[in-house]
Amino acid sequence: MKEGRIATMADTTIRGEGVSKIFSGSVVAVEDAHFDIRQGEFISIVGPSGCGKSTLLRMVAGLIDITSGNLTINGSVVSEPRNDVALMFQKATLLPWKNAMENVLIPTSLQGRKITDADRKQAIDLLQLTGLSGFEFAYPDQLSGGMQQRVALARLLNTGSNILLLDEPFGALDEFTRETMNMELLRIVSEVKATALFVTHNIAEAIFLADRVFVMTPRPGRLARIVDVPFGKDRTPDLAQTPEFNRIVSEVRSILGAGH
Ligand SMILES: Nc1ncnc2c1ncn2[C@@H]1O[C@H](COP(=O)(O)OP(=O)(O)OP(=O)(O)O)[C@@H](O)[C@H]1O
Ligand SMILES: [Mg+2]
Repeated sequence: MKEGRIATMADTTIRGEGVSKIFSGSVVAVEDAHFDIRQGEFISIVGPSGCGKSTLLRMVAGLIDITSGNLTINGSVVSEPRNDVALMFQKATLLPWKNAMENVLIPTSLQGRKITDADRKQAIDLLQLTGLSGFEFAYPDQLSGGMQQRVALARLLNTGSNILLLDEPFGALDEFTRETMNMELLRIVSEVKATALFVTHNIAEAIFLADRVFVMTPRPGRLARIVDVPFGKDRTPDLAQTPEFNRIVSEVRSILGAGH
């Protein structure tokens, strides 16, 4: 086994041992999931509709309780939402009466303190990081869908959380914008040294972004396999044309196929 691939207690940030979620006494949304996620890792979660991807993310976010098993972050049991974990959805959910900078400042306001000039500067810096310099004072309806997602990403980063949970954040964007946003996301996540869990239906996107891909299969929702993606952090869209990349796409496809 390659060195550095074995998770130890010291570098594991999120650990699931036999995690299950049963809704309404009968719907098994996630069954017996085992995983160890290391600090700074980028994990994609892929699988068909209804296989429990969002449920897994919401359990990690502390938004819903697990039914059985053990789920810890940095060694403590997840029982409620935590400051070091932030979640982003498919829709940007910006407040239409607030401009881009004010939307990014929402997590700061939620901390219940007065917004300072330093906070505003940080929001502007984050908008620059997500490629929105010059649009700090634009309102959501003046921004394209992709730009709105950039604001949502800046807002996510402004939570200061270093565990980022992204539930199909670019699912509603066209393919070109989505590819750009994927490149941006890779750059930003490695710049802020975050740990990321990224949900998508798109196998190529999952592989392109991730250090490892969690492949889930439905009925019941199972974490069928964890696939290693042996490419470095510096990736360009050409990667998707390489035989090694396509071999991993086929591997993930066959795991998904076998799950039906
Ligand atoms: N609050 C809930 N109450 C009851 N059942 C639920 C609830 N949330 C999810 N489920 C069920 O759990 C299963 C997994 O749902 P989940 O939303 O996690 O799937 P998903 O993989 O995110 O799907 P999609 O790709 O469509 O977003 C589904 O059968 C769903 O109906
Ligand atoms: Mg979902």
